[in-house]
Amino acid sequence: MSARDTDWEGVRLHVVTGKGGTGKTTVAAALALALAGRGRKVLLMEVEGRQGIAQLFDCPPLPYDERRVAVAPGTTHHAGGDVYALAADPESALIEYLEMFYNLRHAARALTRFGIVDFATTIAPGLRDVLLTGKAAEATRRKVNGEFTYDAVVMDAPPTGRISRFLNVSSEVSGLARVGPIRSHADTVQRVIRSPLTAVHFVTVLEEMPVQETLDGIAELRGLPSGGLQLGGIMVNMVRPVPLPGDDLGKAAGGSLDAGELSLALKAAGIDDEAVPGGRSALAVSLATELAGYAREALAADGQRRRLAGAARPVYELPRIPDGIDLAALYRLAESLREQGAA
Ligand SMILES: Nc1ncnc2c1ncn2[C@@H]1O[C@H](COP(=O)(O)OP(=O)(O)OP(=O)(O)O)[C@@H](O)[C@H]1O
Ligand SMILES: [Mg+2]
Repeated sequence: MSARDTDWEGVRLHVVTGKGGTGKTTVAAALALALAGRGRKVLLMEVEGRQGIAQLFDCPPLPYDERRVAVAPGTTHHAGGDVYALAADPESALIEYLEMFYNLRHAARALTRFGIVDFATTIAPGLRDVLLTGKAAEATRRKVNGEFTYDAVVMDAPPTGRISRFLNVSSEVSGLARVGPIRSHADTVQRVIRSPLTAVHFVTVLEEMPVQETLDGIAELRGLPSGGLQLGGIMVNMVRPVPLPGDDLGKAAGGSLDAGELSLALKAAGIDDEAVPGGRSALAVSLATELAGYAREALAADGQRRRLAGAARPVYELPRIPDGIDLAALYRLAESLREQGAA
């Protein structure tokens, strides 16, 4: 196993954001598996009430409870570790919070029954966020008998458009609770989120819009008042293999790939096809057209890579898995993240 050391030594809470549909849930799961690789225990947490993790690991919907969903493969030097998963929701987080700090489980249940939690989180959306980030911070810091319960927590977080608001909760909540328990809870959460314990990773694909969102999101987090929020890496997802070596790529994209040469190559490979005027085979002509499409795509992808490089963050690339994402594919993505030093 050639995995090198992680680029994120000391990070215990990995927040994974990105444009919708670029693979946040998939990459968060792969990162959790990668982190679990060296015999570690990792919590993968979702906060959007979508049950994306259960679908991904092909298990029944997750309750508000930490369940083991996968075992990471071990290496020559380490046994495999475990990935636990949690689907967090604000109601359960509030009940748990009130019970943990005030022993108020029954009162809290009554509050939920009368819809008061919904009401409160509607008039103070920041409260919702602080309950969810609070759960992540709690799991990150939790210790039993002096030992951390989890070596790392990975959060499948809201998309880029909402992430800075989601994480920068203290100013939001302050209107509702300038002093008192919610305030100090929010402050504790902020201390975890704005510390070297936390890193925010961005998932993107090599296309104009998601790349723009990534660059905007990074700029926004960099501009947060009082700073202290650690930017993580850029995980470039669904990367397609480049169809041709460098020189030919430009030629193919420009439509000047020599179809005559292709015809000869096809003939040499024993693929004989009917000739069209000019002596080239029909197959070679359509192949050249198809290659031109792929080549243009590959060149455009390189352009997006250059834009991402401007953000000056570590970049990790994950292949597009042609047959879709199953557990085996997740292991493959996890392995790739480890090899590149993301975990
Ligand atoms: N590397 C990959 N190769 C192939 N398919 C992928 C890859 N990564 C993700 N997908 C597929 O792309 C789709 C979107 O992925 P995913 O659900 O992880 O994105 P998301 O950003 O979490 O989406 P949402 O914004 O809806 O939460 C899924 O069908 C997933 O299986
Ligand atoms: Mg998702």
